[in-house]
Amino acid sequence: MPGNVILVGFMGAGKSTCGRLLARRLGRCFVETDDMIVARDGRPIHEIFRLDGEETFRRLETEAVEALKLKSDDVIATGGGLPCREGRMEALRALGTVVWLRGDVGELLARARRSGQRPMLDGRSAAEIDALFRAREPYYAQAHLTVDTAGLTMDQVVQRIVSALRETHARV
Ligand code: S3P
Repeated sequence: MPGNVILVGFMGAGKSTCGRLLARRLGRCFVETDDMIVARDGRPIHEIFRLDGEETFRRLETEAVEALKLKSDDVIATGGGLPCREGRMEALRALGTVVWLRGDVGELLARARRSGQRPMLDGRSAAEIDALFRAREPYYAQAHLTVDTAGLTMDQVVQRIVSALRETHARV
């Protein structure tokens, strides 16, 4: 099995920030599926959503997962919705060790709204976002490892990921 470390979790979980820090700490390359999609499509994510809709974006995510099969020892941050389709978690688990950054929905949302555009949050009520979060949890829960992030700094989260990886004898 390839030795990638794959981060999954809801928007605002800190996948990008922690992934970048983790990659530096482990001396590995860092890859983001959202960046792969933008590089390939040529448009920012919010434009893909606005002009072509969510289903087109999800198809581009499928292509990104295919392209990840070429990676072997990277740290990979996935978009929050990427694991939440039939067969996606199996595909990610085949790429290496999958880590779920699990957080409190209120904390995640506050962070997600502070940083960058998030088309999946636009026009959705708090109840709808909560429902989305609950619907996604069973997918994230299929990760090999779960790291609770509530109340932690990003550095502390990275430390927890490293410890969790060591405990599973992953190559770190
Ligand atoms: C999405 C999350 C985003 C991005 C896109 C859709 C989602 O990534 O892939 O806007 O469906 O949750 P982040 O999790 O990095 O915000």
